[in-house]
Amino acid sequence: MKNIHITETVLRDANQSLIATRLPFNSFAPILDKLDNAGYYSLECWGGATFDSCIRYLNEDPWIRLKKIKSVAKKTPLQMLLRGQNILGYKHYPDDVVREFIKMAIYYGIDIIRIFDALNDFRNIEVAIDETKKQGAHAQGTIVYTVSPIHDVKSYINLAKELKNMGSDSICIKDMAGLIMPDIAFNLIKKLKETVKIPIYLHSHSTNGLAEMSYLKAVEAGVDGIDCAISAFGGGTAQPATESIHYALTSSGFNTNLYGNKLKEINDFFKPIREDFLKKGLLNPKVLSPQPEALIYQIPGGMLSNMISQLKEQNSLNKLEAVLNEVPKVREDLGYPPLVTPMSQMVGTQATINILTGERYKMILKEVKAYCRGEYGKAPGKINNDLLNKAIGENEPIKTRYADTLEPAFEKTKEKLKDLTTRNEDVLTYLSFPEIAEEFLKNKKLHPSSDELREQTKSGVI
Ligand code: CO
Repeated sequence: MKNIHITETVLRDANQSLIATRLPFNSFAPILDKLDNAGYYSLECWGGATFDSCIRYLNEDPWIRLKKIKSVAKKTPLQMLLRGQNILGYKHYPDDVVREFIKMAIYYGIDIIRIFDALNDFRNIEVAIDETKKQGAHAQGTIVYTVSPIHDVKSYINLAKELKNMGSDSICIKDMAGLIMPDIAFNLIKKLKETVKIPIYLHSHSTNGLAEMSYLKAVEAGVDGIDCAISAFGGGTAQPATESIHYALTSSGFNTNLYGNKLKEINDFFKPIREDFLKKGLLNPKVLSPQPEALIYQIPGGMLSNMISQLKEQNSLNKLEAVLNEVPKVREDLGYPPLVTPMSQMVGTQATINILTGERYKMILKEVKAYCRGEYGKAPGKINNDLLNKAIGENEPIKTRYADTLEPAFEKTKEKLKDLTTRNEDVLTYLSFPEIAEEFLKNKKLHPSSDELREQTKSGVI
């Protein structure tokens, strides 16, 4: 019986996709022991937006949150999502910061790091993969999945070979917008399994109502693992429900290693939490049902709602149709970047500007200019020449890896913060989100919680 690894995403991706990452540690602390004993391959619990949300909204130290998770969930590997050279933020960091961050994440308990770059420019993930391996953790090289005239199974196979050669322990196909069709999932996974002999994982979202079907086809094609979310936080813009996938796969002769009775207990625990978020309005019932419009417009659901609110602000909701037609054109002009953060925001906003100003690229976003200069990495396809001229004029785009142009920053920042903190963890928090971290660190210094006092005493800071 073939084993299928199941990663539980309730603490990270499902939390992020359904309730904007607002799950405080205390709300899920009592169930960690059961999560650890349910038979999961891994628990995705950190990275993505969790770090940002901890300091911005939850007033929790993300490092201590991780340590507390690890102190209970000792058996099941803990997994995080890392945006390569962007770490967890939106800009490129110098290599020393990337290495320090990864070292610390692994020290605090992360076992598996899923590492991706929005453009699939693997120069932006090589340092992260290298450091993860140096620290003895599992480096999962990731391919961002998208649909475009220049992306096909062959191009993904080539990317997978690159990831394997870079030393990835496994490969993840990351379908953040839930676009992968069942037959493509089958062909892609089958070819990947034939070509690269390392474990292959598929990550998708139920947003468009496809993921359950695509998961089953991927399993039939030999995928090694898939991501699921316990049913109270499953489906919709999150992952397919863990229990349904478990029962479906078990009845088809696959072994998930999960215990059905434990899954029920875990779900019973999360049900009232879901009800609570529904009542508070933080969980919008809309995100729980399939929204296959994304398949027509070829844009992720989150991007669509952003554009609608931008247009509303400008009293221009009547231009929505025109903006929706402009999005694929801007994307083509930029060389078909996958529509994932930060590219989805960039393409959506530029398309909106093009329509509202009545002239294409009359005004060009500074992020689009930076993209054209090569500061985000190499565009997957060719950038339109007219746009390139308007964006950067006579200047040549940089051909090297953008991070190579950045000065080391960790020691300098540590020195700058010495009156506020001497902990390397805090320096990394500050480097990740300087605008909000300073306030957070000041507050923490003024009112350290008992947990943090214990932590500081142990680490010899006070
Ligand atoms: Co996701």
